[in-house]
Amino acid sequence: MLKDKLLDLREEALKSIQSADSVKNLRDIHVHYLGKKGPITEVLKGMGKLAKEERPVIGQLANQIRESIGTRIEDKKKTLEKKMLEERIKSEAIDVTLPGRKRAMGGHHLLASVIRDIEDLFIGLGFSVVEGPEVEEDYYNFEALNLPKNHPARDMQDSFYITDEILMRTHTSPMQARTMEKHKGKGPVKIICPGKVYRRDTDDATHSHQFMQIEGLCVDKNVRLSDLKGVLTVFAKHVFGAEREIRLRPSYFPFTEPSVEMDISCFKCGGHGCSVCKGTGWIEILGSGMVHPNVLRMSGFDPSVYTGFAFGMGPERIAMLKYGIDDIRQFYNDDMRFLKQFKRA
Ligand code: PHE
Repeated sequence: MLKDKLLDLREEALKSIQSADSVKNLRDIHVHYLGKKGPITEVLKGMGKLAKEERPVIGQLANQIRESIGTRIEDKKKTLEKKMLEERIKSEAIDVTLPGRKRAMGGHHLLASVIRDIEDLFIGLGFSVVEGPEVEEDYYNFEALNLPKNHPARDMQDSFYITDEILMRTHTSPMQARTMEKHKGKGPVKIICPGKVYRRDTDDATHSHQFMQIEGLCVDKNVRLSDLKGVLTVFAKHVFGAEREIRLRPSYFPFTEPSVEMDISCFKCGGHGCSVCKGTGWIEILGSGMVHPNVLRMSGFDPSVYTGFAFGMGPERIAMLKYGIDDIRQFYNDDMRFLKQFKRA
């Protein structure tokens, strides 16, 4: 009788061990069958009623059953732990073959790219890049450039005045005077100066109250108009293609004498005449000339020893021509659809 009971218990215990699905489950099973108040202990307590010769047999069986339940529990625990570990490894695994998330990369603004490209070229020609104040003194913006008060040419550049003597610079040319002053009458001076300028204009497709310029200045002994022409030719070919030719047309600026405007042969039609060059074969690019003796003198250079050339160009105009952009406002209104087209790696 006791023997059957023990065997049944074993059967029952092994079944529940088999179907156990967690370590906690197993711990409960262990407590239940092998604990002090468990059914096996209970059975053994009834041994006193057994015949003498039966006692060791049942005792041995009970111990065997206890042992086998214990080993089974241990085995099952190991299996469960192994399974859990495997599941954890699986769920926490990182798939290194997954493609990464793409990050949006910034790029240079088209104007910045154009300016940097031109800077690089002039650095290669021995020029330094300098920058100057956008809020400028009337003296540097006009006076030192041979434009005394009431000079009619001041009207060429409608200005934002802050006080009678302070204004938003209307061009980067004041940096000619500032740079020469710094050099205290001693050449060579070779600089370009990119920066923002301001004019009292109504904004439209071709006008903006704020835009950019790149000024160039080269002062030394024996600097001639042919040097200006050479430098501008290199510039035109670099920016608009190796086949470009340039021509200089007489013009007028108070701070240069002679003054010239530079045209390039049309990069679209090669000079035959098209919509870009308005049928002329030539495109106007910039203003320039030989630094006026008065300008040299006012900034401390002796015009009988030194000569120089200067030029001023508009990077917006250059970019508009080069990339067929028809509205200058595109540069300033941060439309990503526009800007992304010119993103450089
Ligand atoms: N400062 C002139 C302008 O803004 C351009 C210029 C610069 C002309 C240097 C001659 C020499 O129109």
